[in-house]
Amino acid sequence: MASELIFRGGHESPLKSDEYDSPKPQKPWLTVTRPIHYLLREQRLVFLIVGIVIATLIFSLLPSSTVTTTPSLNYNMHDSIGGESFLTAESTRLMPTHRVTDGFRSGKVPLGLKRKGLRIVVTGGAGFVGSHLVDRLIARGDSVIVVDNFFTGRKENVMHHFGNPRFELIRHDVVEPLLLEVDQIYHLACPASPVHYKHNPVKTIKTNVVGTLNMLGLAKRIGARFLLTSTSEVYGDPLEHPQKETYWGNVNPIGVRSCYDEGKRTAETLAMDYHRGAGVEVRIARIFNTYGPRMCIDDGRVVSNFVAQALRKEPMTVYGDGKQTRSFQFVSDLVEGLMRLMEGEHVGPFNLGNPGEFTMLELAKVVQETIDPNAKIEFRPNTEDDPHKRKPDNSKAKELLGWEPKIALRKGLPMMVSDFRQRIFGDQKGGDTTAF
Ligand SMILES: NC(=O)c1ccc[n+]([C@@H]2O[C@H](COP(=O)([O-])OP(=O)(O)OC[C@H]3O[C@@H](n4cnc5c(N)ncnc54)[C@H](O)[C@@H]3O)[C@@H](O)[C@H]2O)c1
Repeated sequence: MASELIFRGGHESPLKSDEYDSPKPQKPWLTVTRPIHYLLREQRLVFLIVGIVIATLIFSLLPSSTVTTTPSLNYNMHDSIGGESFLTAESTRLMPTHRVTDGFRSGKVPLGLKRKGLRIVVTGGAGFVGSHLVDRLIARGDSVIVVDNFFTGRKENVMHHFGNPRFELIRHDVVEPLLLEVDQIYHLACPASPVHYKHNPVKTIKTNVVGTLNMLGLAKRIGARFLLTSTSEVYGDPLEHPQKETYWGNVNPIGVRSCYDEGKRTAETLAMDYHRGAGVEVRIARIFNTYGPRMCIDDGRVVSNFVAQALRKEPMTVYGDGKQTRSFQFVSDLVEGLMRLMEGEHVGPFNLGNPGEFTMLELAKVVQETIDPNAKIEFRPNTEDDPHKRKPDNSKAKELLGWEPKIALRKGLPMMVSDFRQRIFGDQKGGDTTAF
């Protein structure tokens, strides 16, 4: 019985016990004919063919990874993970419509671990611009990790997201390396106002250079798309007006603002070198003066200065003769531009600013109209390296990103005033105008 169970020799008789002692050499052709006999016997060949046919049918009928993109955004699926999202009416404009039908990029996601939206890091996300960006990303259905050392940022700017499972806050200095798994990195971490970036200039340049290197290294390692928030300061005191992205700038490399200006220029260089040398998908935004709710109240930036001074019934300080010009962009316009840039196909750099040009005296007049017609103006000597003119040429962003600012100064300023009034006087009557 036992020999019947293990015997596979067909017509050949099983070996007799004495044959074990003197084994005969194997016939060479048996190694070829045996497998063929094996296949032909007991309809094994039929089963094999049927198996091949079924497998072919399954693989040809299963749809391959399909991606549909909005024509305007041409979203690159390299950085996206499929899933549902909870869109607000406004944020749907920037939501890349994509559908991923089987494991994309990172392989199959195990059942029960299906991701929702994108995973996004916002460095400097507790700051002025960063916190508004976080609001939009969360509203779009993404999962957001804010990385901030709270140098100029405030927990209050993001605490309305505490308790949301799609929001995380990490206290971390970008000068130190960090490992996270995300699809996109918005790199904003850097003090933006002269008061703050001049406070510790070596730290400012370290944040711009080492911090940017760390985040670019992370983007390379995990294959994430990386957006750098550079600045119009890369144009220095410009000899070309308005400034186009092709203009290389007129920057003092050894002045008191150089830690910021040259720091951002180096950050741009690093981004481009990681792009060319390591294939990292980078995006560069050159941001012009931006204002809005959640700005630091006493940060020395002209709009926040004027608004806070007028509210406190102090004279508005104008440096120099007040004829230097600036353009002022409302923060929601900027956030829209940053998201379009991130989702679009173009590396940049792109100017993102409002071309409406105002002299400091004109700005003071708008603040008087909005807050207090009797607010006084006080002149002070101009600060070192303060550029005389600044006005973006936005035509590249308009053409390639379909973006242009929409909120005029006279419309945006009251929203900021209402937020400042609340924070300075604790006045709740202004209502919550901090989020858009
Ligand atoms: N607001 C503007 O007008 C303007 C103009 C040009 C460029 N930008 C750029 O936009 C970005 C955001 O500017 P903002 O106006 O929101 O400034 P902000 O100072 O309000 O925000 C910067 C954030 O970065 C954080 N930060 C600073 N150093 C850090 C570090 N080493 N590690 C981790 N976090 C750090 C701060 O705590 C803060 O939350 C900056 O990169 C700035 O250079 C802003």
